[in-house]
Amino acid sequence: MVNQFRYEIPTAIEFGNGVINDLAEHVRKLGGTKVLIVGDPGVVNAGVVDKLSKPLEDSKIPYVTFSEIEPDPAIKSVEKGLNLAKEENCDLVIGVGGGSSLDTAKAIGLMLTNPGNIRDYVGINLVPNQAAPVIAVPTTAGTGSELTIWSVLSDKEAKTKLSVGSIYNMPTLALCDPQLTSTLPPHITAATGMDALTHALESYVNKSTQPISEGLSIQSMKMIAQNLRLAVVQGENSDARYQMLLASLIAAMAFNSTRLGLAHALAIPLGAHFNIPHGVVNAILLPEVMQFNIIGNVDKFAEIAEIFGENTKGFTKREAAEKAVSAIRQLKKDVGITQTLSDYGLEEKHLDMIAEEAMLSGNVPVNPVKPTLEDLKNICRSAMGSEVRETVTN
Ligand SMILES: [Fe+2]
Repeated sequence: MVNQFRYEIPTAIEFGNGVINDLAEHVRKLGGTKVLIVGDPGVVNAGVVDKLSKPLEDSKIPYVTFSEIEPDPAIKSVEKGLNLAKEENCDLVIGVGGGSSLDTAKAIGLMLTNPGNIRDYVGINLVPNQAAPVIAVPTTAGTGSELTIWSVLSDKEAKTKLSVGSIYNMPTLALCDPQLTSTLPPHITAATGMDALTHALESYVNKSTQPISEGLSIQSMKMIAQNLRLAVVQGENSDARYQMLLASLIAAMAFNSTRLGLAHALAIPLGAHFNIPHGVVNAILLPEVMQFNIIGNVDKFAEIAEIFGENTKGFTKREAAEKAVSAIRQLKKDVGITQTLSDYGLEEKHLDMIAEEAMLSGNVPVNPVKPTLEDLKNICRSAMGSEVRETVTN
């Protein structure tokens, strides 16, 4: 644990069923005179954007909608959305959807008040000016983008992902209405929920954790342990949906100031090269990364086992810690994530490239165990499935 730290959350949070109905009032309070709504085609087709545009129309607040967003939002989406916002003289951005929509909306808000190109700000705290007001409306419970400093954007030509991190990239308001998550299909509920868990867990065991983030991580993990399965198998369970959206938000409050670990370090290149959804790749990697990290923080992994309902009495700390890994493997299976990295086309010949790219991540230095390139490759091998693991060890 670090002994000096900074914790800052400039984003206001409005949370609860029905909070979306107050959208126009929030736009007014933030001084918005014309709004750019940013939402991917999925949320447009599902009618979610209508739930935002209706209160704006009723209050006679003009708006335009930008929906040219891909699942992994590209730099190009930001540039197109920014051009539209400038042409239409928009002064407030609303992002609605999963992480892709929110990351794009945040980056557009940032570029409305900053010079140059979004590529100029890849890295951490390189942005000179506060963004235009941004309201983030999450419709998935996992990315936590509504409350983080990060926008992760794909450079499709270079097959890489670029991360822009700045306190100025945090939304002005996170408007979190659990009812908007009620129609998410089980596989997306599962993947995004496992992403939220990976945020809480990686932050909890890493080297830059501090008392504030620790408390947030524990609370988030408890809520996920009790509600993720229910949210997946009972999509209409409003309490489980409520708890999962809150757990995702709380996990974001934890990792925003601590960074993450090797699952996220590897998830970025694996997602970019093999088109694996972010939550799925984290879910596949998480037990393997936990196994690798146990010796770096045995006590905390033993605590995680207890949070996930394992009986740790009469066992050594090390034995209890091992139970955390099996508990997360069981959770992953229960929510229907049974894929391996091999299923997405990862082969032995790709591992050097993936390990080298992952090693550049800012999530590596905070991981509880310092990895070598070979360690990263071994984690991938474990996540490729038993056939490959046998081939490698023979
Ligand atoms: Fe994530």
